[in-house]
Amino acid sequence: MAASSYQQSSITVQLEGGKTFICKDVLPQPGGVILDLGCGTGELSAFLAELVEPHGYVIAVDPDTNRLNLAKETHRHVKNLFFVEGNSNEFQGMGSKKYDLIFSNFVFHWIPDKDKAFRNMFDSLKAGGKIAIHYIDALLPFITTSFEVLNPETAEKFNKMFCFDTRDNIDCMCRAAGFDVVSSYYAYDKTVVYPSVENLLQWLVGTSHGVFDLQLVTQERIQQLFEKFGNPPFDFTADSRVSRLLAVKPKSQAQ
Ligand SMILES: C[S@@+](CC[C@H](N)C(=O)[O-])C[C@H]1O[C@@H](n2cnc3c(N)ncnc32)[C@H](O)[C@@H]1O
Repeated sequence: MAASSYQQSSITVQLEGGKTFICKDVLPQPGGVILDLGCGTGELSAFLAELVEPHGYVIAVDPDTNRLNLAKETHRHVKNLFFVEGNSNEFQGMGSKKYDLIFSNFVFHWIPDKDKAFRNMFDSLKAGGKIAIHYIDALLPFITTSFEVLNPETAEKFNKMFCFDTRDNIDCMCRAAGFDVVSSYYAYDKTVVYPSVENLLQWLVGTSHGVFDLQLVTQERIQQLFEKFGNPPFDFTADSRVSRLLAVKPKSQAQ
């Protein structure tokens, strides 16, 4: 249930933002070998696979078995895409120096040991290979408010699930692992609009791995939400700050 909610509702935030990042900054080359770290239900993995075909391929890993199963089922027709269980500490091809690109969309804020994740990625890239990390460094205000109003009972549990760090610290960790940072910036170019309360609720269920509890959402709480946000459609575009990091493994240091 949470996996399919994620698949349907991630289109608004994760998918659109990820595609913009890929087409604007990441620019994967045909023939490339890509790791999609934390692929979720695999929509962006399939998008990447299309960009590197016919000779390139994508290995997409995620620790959430339900999301991975749904990804395998949904994208089974994509011949150059392989879904494998894994995470930032253990993934297919770790240490292999075979990847041209490691892409990770809306995952880094879930990773507790980011130093280790950077080292693992560094060891897995070819010389000259790059990482493209798209993440948030704090909960977006509309999410915090939605939880406070609709699900105050689960808000603390949800907040504790994340491992936020500042963009400066993340850039430092990236450099410490040996990468040259090509660009690191905040982007505000994502449209985040929920046409109805139902759309917003579905997104909250999906993105919280099921922590957001629909049973706790009363009419009274929905009314309070309208008082905060106005009537739907809810347009949170102005709230939608994300961080984008692009870094390269230098050719000279690579063994
Ligand atoms: C917000 S989803 C993003 C999924 C996908 N990248 C997308 O853009 O739709 C975050 C994903 O990161 C995965 N994840 C959490 N911790 C992880 C870790 N340590 N390493 C790799 N993936 C992780 C979760 O299971 C989840 O599917």
